[in-house]
Formats: sequence, C-alpha cells, structure tokens
Amino acid sequence: MTSRTSPESNADTNPESQIESLRAQIRLHEHRYYVLDDPSITDAAYDALVNQLKALEAAHPQLITPDSPTQRVGGQPREGFVKVEHSSQMLSLDNAYTLDDLRDWDRRVRELAGSASAEIRYVCELKLDGLSMAIRYAPGADAGADAGVDGGCELARAITRGDGSVGEEVTPNVRTVRSVPLAIPAAQRKKAGLPRAFEVRGEILMPRASFERMNDERERNDLPRFANPRNAAAGGIRQLDPQLTAARRLDYFAYALSVEGRTYFDHHWQTLEALDAAGFKVNPKRKLAHSLDEVWTFIEQWEEKRDALPYEIDGIVIKVDRTALQRELGFTGKAPRWAIAYKYAARAGVTQLNDIEVNVGRTGKLTPTAVLEPVFIGGTTVSRATLHNLDEIQRLGLMIGDWVIVERGGDVIPKVTKVVDDDSGKPRGTRVFAMPERCPECGGHIVRAEGEVAHFCVNTSCPAKL
Ligand code: IVH
Repeated sequence: MTSRTSPESNADTNPESQIESLRAQIRLHEHRYYVLDDPSITDAAYDALVNQLKALEAAHPQLITPDSPTQRVGGQPREGFVKVEHSSQMLSLDNAYTLDDLRDWDRRVRELAGSASAEIRYVCELKLDGLSMAIRYAPGADAGADAGVDGGCELARAITRGDGSVGEEVTPNVRTVRSVPLAIPAAQRKKAGLPRAFEVRGEILMPRASFERMNDERERNDLPRFANPRNAAAGGIRQLDPQLTAARRLDYFAYALSVEGRTYFDHHWQTLEALDAAGFKVNPKRKLAHSLDEVWTFIEQWEEKRDALPYEIDGIVIKVDRTALQRELGFTGKAPRWAIAYKYAARAGVTQLNDIEVNVGRTGKLTPTAVLEPVFIGGTTVSRATLHNLDEIQRLGLMIGDWVIVERGGDVIPKVTKVVDDDSGKPRGTRVFAMPERCPECGGHIVRAEGEVAHFCVNTSCPAKL
C-alpha cells in the first residue's frame, strides 16, 4: 500500500460522533481496498483506525450497531440454515459453445425483438466461476430517526440459490465477505439512484490467491486439498461458524439488481453503474457491444487473458441491455431468452502417466511431479503436472502407467485430476509409486513427521536447501 492521505485527526470528544466519523473513514478505506483494489492508506494506518474504533466501542458498548465495520464476524455458530423463498426465480443460463450457437441465439433475439432489433445492444460480462448469492438491503434498524425515502440502508439477508425458488439464509457468513457492504449511507444510495429496499444478485468466489493459501494451510494441517476454488467457496459459505467462512477470504461481484422482484433500471448497463456507485464490487471487465462481432471480439480477448485474472472464469455471459426487451423476451424453463453463457472449452486432456519424479524444494520438502506423455491442452503442450504429496497420489489411486485426466485450471501448473476409469478400455498402470527413502538431491535422510502430509529431507546442508 502507498500512503497518500493520513487518517483525519479527530478533535471531537463526543464518543457518538467520534465513532460515526471513524466508521465512515474505515468504510471508505475498506471500499478502496476490497472493492476498488486501490488502497489509499497503509495497512498500519488502517489498523490504527480500526483499533481506535474498537476501543471506543468497548468503552461505549451501547453504541455498537450491526453495520459497524467491527461487526463483520460475530455471533455464535448456528445449528443449521433456514430456508427462504426467493423474491423472483434465481435462474440459470443456457450455454453456447461455438460462434454458430451465438449466431442462432442472436437471430432468435432479433426475430422476437421485431422492428426494435436494429438498436439491440448486448452487455458482455465475465462468467465468474463461483456460486450465486442474493443479498437483500433494507432501511436500517434506526430507520425511525430518518425514516422515509431519505435514509441509508443495511444488509438484511443473504440467500443462496438453492433450487432457484427457495435458498438457504447464510447472512452471518456473507457478512464476513469484505467486498459486501454492510451498510449503504444515504448520500451514496441516492447518488446511485437506488431505493431503500432492494436485492442484489451476484457471484461469491474464492480468488486464486486465497485458494492457494488455504490449500497450503490445509496441507500443513494434514487435510485434503480442495479440488478447485468454486468448491472451496461453496464449502466456505455453508459453514455453520462464520469465523470459518471469514478464514476463506471470499469475494463477491454484483451483477443484477431488483426492487420488489423486478428489474429497476431501463438498461442493464445502467444497473451495473448504479451498483458500482452504491459501493458494490462490479466487474470493470465488461463491454457494451453494438454487434455480435463486438461480442465475439470480447470473448476471444478474454479467452486469451483469463489466466492472468486473480479469479477463475469459465466463460462470458451476454445479456440484452434494454430491460423492456428482456421482459418481452421472457424465459424458457429455467433460463432467460435474453441472456446466454458462452462457455470456454474445458482445458482438460487425457494422457499417460509415464513416471513420477520427486523434486526437493528450498525448505527440504519433497514434491512429486507427474511426468506425462506430452498432450496438447488449450493452446500449450503439457508434459508435467503437480501431484502435491503422497496423500494426493493415494487419493487419486494413481499408478505409474495409468491413463489420466490432466486439467489446466487458471494456475500455471497443470494438475492430474483423475485416473481414467477401468471401463474406458484403457489399461491400468502397473507400478505403485513409493516416496524415495533417500533424498534425490543429496542422499540424506527423509522423514515424514507424525500426522504430517509432506516428506522432508533433514540434511541441513542439502544443496536443494542452499
Ligand atoms: S447472470 C438470469 N452474470 O452463472 C441471469 N450469472 O450458469 C442469471 N454467473 O447461476 C445470472 N457470472 O451463478 C450472470 N456475470 C454473470 C455471471 C453469472 C457467473 C453464474 C451464476 C448463474 C450461472 C449460470
């Protein structure tokens, strides 16, 4: 973080206004850090503000309100989740896999639009690989003081998609997601043009960095690694203890808004801008396309750049911009006619595991690596993949010589995700892998401490460590 502004000095001695001022400053800095990825004070200066607020709240507990930035992770673990009906169906999307699929969809949209088809605009958004979440905002508990149309609003309820009609209420867990605003001050809400009660829909996801960190930590604690960020995010949201959700460091991007179950603005692009103005994290990587050619350019552009994103995407969502036309187009079954998901080809391939090689890292940790028959996956030739540790090899039931499925996720290093099953006609491998008894670098002793997943070389002068 760079230091551009310093925390405002607070000459005020009235605890109530001091607390309000600190909360406003902290909200602003959290918005800059978690939503805009553009912090304007140092971590230490931010911590100082939070500590000041905590101290004041501890001295005046009657002034603690649920929308205070100190109240994200609170409450006792719950016994279970309550089912809640959605304000309108939470839909899924039909998929397109080729440019022809998109052309067909575009033709259907234009036919149904009739004479208005000339001015169709499409909004292109990244298809985030997480889980959808509805979050309701309502006038705060203190609405009495500034009731009516003038006040701010607070996060009231967060509900998972469930079966689309009924989801599970996971409010305390979603409150721990730092990019989700707990409160929207009146001025900001009005600037965004939002009423005091509305529902936001969007995607909860786990950034790659959180995923890697969490998996490393799980490995250290002898727990199995999560297969992908989406599973880790979904598991995180279903924790009964919000402390555990907080530890997963999830993120939330908003992409839809409704008021009393209906879309609110005339254009979807306007909705995204309003959500952004209200303080939600809205993906800036979006485009208002004037033709299918422009849509296709956006799709191709992100297929190439998707690995550089800090989170995983699995395609592009294309939506009709004008909401009146969306309503006219309506739905088929569980999906709208006015939107479609272009799915990027799965980046997986089938190949043979020729060997398992063991590398020694700087800490002395032994990491098994799959040596593969080279296979072309999503534009590159893959000949090696990480296997993490012996437990992972045993979990996969891997033998040398097996045919395996290799996936290139967003990570730089491909992964072996599965052994091709026996009824595929492919022969099974024949050689069981064993960890070496001596370090492959120095011949030193190898140990695996009681209850640990990883093996280590204990020779302090092992060249791999030096
Ligand atoms: S719009 C009716 N926009 O994809 C509109 N969905 O396959 C429904 N998703 O359930 C959602 N990124 O969880 C929309 N930018 C985006 C999205 C997105 C990811 C997910 C969402 C939905 C699923 C449908």
